[in-house]
Amino acid sequence: MHQQKKENERSKDTLKRLLLLFLISCLGLSIFGTRYFLRETLDYSSTKQIKKAFEQLIQSEQQKQILADMYTVHKGVEEKTLYGFFFSEEEHETVVAQLEEKTKGAAIGLGGIPSAVLSYISEEDIDETLTHRKYVTREYRWAQEQSAFVLEKEVAELFDIRAYGSRDPLTIRDVAKDETSLRGITRVLQEAILEKHDNPEMILQDVLALPDITFEDEGIVLPHALQLRTDPKVFGFDTIDLEYSALFPAIDTLFLDSAFVEAHEIKKEKREKRVALTFDDGPNTQSTMKLLKLLEKEQIKATFFVLGQMVTAHPTVASKIVEQGHEIANHSYTHPDLTKLSSDIIHNEVKKTDEAIFRATGILPKTFRAPYGAATQEVIRTVGLPMIHWDVDSLDWHSSDPQAIANKVLEEVRPGSIVLMHDIHERSVEAAPEIIRGLREQGYEFVTITELLFDEQQPYYQYFSATINQKNE
Ligand code: NI
Repeated sequence: MHQQKKENERSKDTLKRLLLLFLISCLGLSIFGTRYFLRETLDYSSTKQIKKAFEQLIQSEQQKQILADMYTVHKGVEEKTLYGFFFSEEEHETVVAQLEEKTKGAAIGLGGIPSAVLSYISEEDIDETLTHRKYVTREYRWAQEQSAFVLEKEVAELFDIRAYGSRDPLTIRDVAKDETSLRGITRVLQEAILEKHDNPEMILQDVLALPDITFEDEGIVLPHALQLRTDPKVFGFDTIDLEYSALFPAIDTLFLDSAFVEAHEIKKEKREKRVALTFDDGPNTQSTMKLLKLLEKEQIKATFFVLGQMVTAHPTVASKIVEQGHEIANHSYTHPDLTKLSSDIIHNEVKKTDEAIFRATGILPKTFRAPYGAATQEVIRTVGLPMIHWDVDSLDWHSSDPQAIANKVLEEVRPGSIVLMHDIHERSVEAAPEIIRGLREQGYEFVTITELLFDEQQPYYQYFSATINQKNE
């Protein structure tokens, strides 16, 4: 008897709680920390059946969305209440307003048959370092045959990334993996500042002189971007957002959209017989222009490692290279042997070429090739851009016979090869049609350097082909 009574009381309690929840939901209210913000959207006052189904829906959703982590971390007790999330008062206001907006927004589109919209916050531990916070909005429609609400649509929106466990805000240290990452992020920062500024040429020198960011720099980790501070006196704005997709591969893939990562993987899987033709030491108005015409006719993309002084002399040819979809890359300003120079002079060679390329084309190069391929570890560090070498040397600087140049390339090329040629020699341009024809016959696809490396190239690394690379330690 006693037992029976207790159970009765318990079920009464449950009923009361459900009713309260239901009322709260209907009123669209939210208590502090409530993880559900429910809102009925249509008139279903008519039948008891629908009301009951709605209650059931809420109940089952609650059971599915368990937030045990939150309870233990923040409350120290295992308490399966509705109070899963603990935001500051300020945060709480924003979060509730957001949930309300999303619920109302989804409700607008519903009509005709009884529907329910349910919005809540979901926390998802991505791994042992990161936790995602998402707004989830679910739309249900009444299905008469099933006598139930059926999920029709779910929208999840990431709004916050926190440290796993502590739920602390993240810093640059959490985003950047190592020094290589910091260097890579700095380059993206330079590009972003130039893009954001109304008159990029005016601040170009300052942008290129920016020191590398450090782990200690102030940075805000937003859901889709890393927000960094900039000097407003120099650039006119005090923060800049760097989209995570632009920071690939400098950052952990955990920060990237799963769609981005998937698309990237698919691209890599599809890797076929690919080859990157590279042309050094230009551009000039004669042979480079001829080559560009040929590549356009053949619909082939190549990479041009240009000299800063040549770009300064022939900026329109440089801009044509970019217009036609080729990649333009840095090959120093005056073509010196960098291994014999001080780091200051090396810096200057790189910087002046970056500057010339930007003024001519509006972009900053992503890769570097050392003159004569001469790069010590110190040179690689000082340059600070991915160092691109080659595995097939056409010897076009040496040979005077276009056929011999073509034969050398066709004999040595392998899937993933980087072919070294020079667009400043007429004989190289004369050899190009034969090379293109021969490679096509062997089933090769022509790609640029960054395409060949799937955009995974990183500073302080050297690349000889798609598969041969090494880190400068
Ligand atoms: Ni060269």
